[in-house]
Amino acid sequence: MANKEEKADEKQSSWKDFIYNPRTGEFIGRTASSWALIFLFYLVFYGFLAGMFSLTMWVMLQTLDDHTPRYRDRVANPGLMIRPKYLEIGFNRSIPQQYNKYVQHLESFLQLYNDSIQDANKQCTDGEYFEQDKAEEKQVCQFKRSWLRSCSGLADSTFGYSEGQPCILVKMNRVIGLRPRGDPHINCAAKRETPLQMQYFPTEGTLDKSYFPYYGKTLHANYVQPVVAVKLLLTEEDYNSELVIECKVEGTDLLNNDERDKFLGRVTFRVKVLK
Ligand SMILES: *[C@@H]1O[C@H](CO)[C@@H](O)[C@H](O)[C@H]1NC(C)=O
Ligand SMILES: *[C@@H]1O[C@H](CO)[C@@H](O)[C@H](O)[C@H]1NC(C)=O
Repeated sequence: MANKEEKADEKQSSWKDFIYNPRTGEFIGRTASSWALIFLFYLVFYGFLAGMFSLTMWVMLQTLDDHTPRYRDRVANPGLMIRPKYLEIGFNRSIPQQYNKYVQHLESFLQLYNDSIQDANKQCTDGEYFEQDKAEEKQVCQFKRSWLRSCSGLADSTFGYSEGQPCILVKMNRVIGLRPRGDPHINCAAKRETPLQMQYFPTEGTLDKSYFPYYGKTLHANYVQPVVAVKLLLTEEDYNSELVIECKVEGTDLLNNDERDKFLGRVTFRVKVLK
């Protein structure tokens, strides 16, 4: 019995010694100064890692511009899109319920182009890039919806849909810093033998240079992009059949015939008007 107790006592004291040994002053096998050195080492080591990380991060961020994305593919080659945002437009011109969604879509798109809003913007010089100093907030060149004449939705609130001569708005996607050369304009054509008559607003389908360059969402907050309205002057033979229409940006250095990307500088849509 006594033997067993002694052994248990011994075991306990060796455990106690391991946790704290009063003879050597060791705590879990190390002296206080040894532990202090280890803590110091890791403190310096992790501090150094954190410092390295912050430094490289800071250097990286210095090379970024707040307003322009760093990596952009196809910098100077915007896509084209149409409004209303449907690539298949079909309706019976006698039934308003069938074309209302197109009209509403055009109307809401043009809200920003209201003459009352655009009066606050700058009247820019046609045919010249509107270059602005980098620091300040950028001014916006005005583009009034009334310039779209019979496609403005002002005189004819159905944008020609009720008379069967619908308007389509063509716009070019915004690309920061883009300065299209030459005389950029939108040209549309029906893909068929006989040409389809169309009317452009502004005349010649011009995308004026004064709307370029665009400086990005933060600097150029109220920027409105130029649009070209195309009124399809359909005649009796054009009704009840599907027309395929392609619009391209022309007269400039922008790509419009890329084989892989059908929207690069061009857009194709279908129109079928029933009468
Ligand atoms: C735009 O003008 C029309 C009438 O001219 C008005 O009903 C509409 O509320 C205006 N929109 C904005 C956003 O000011
Ligand atoms: C278009 O709507 C009118 C009026 O409802 C109708 O008479 C005509 O047949 C429709 N046209 C077609 C091609 O369905």
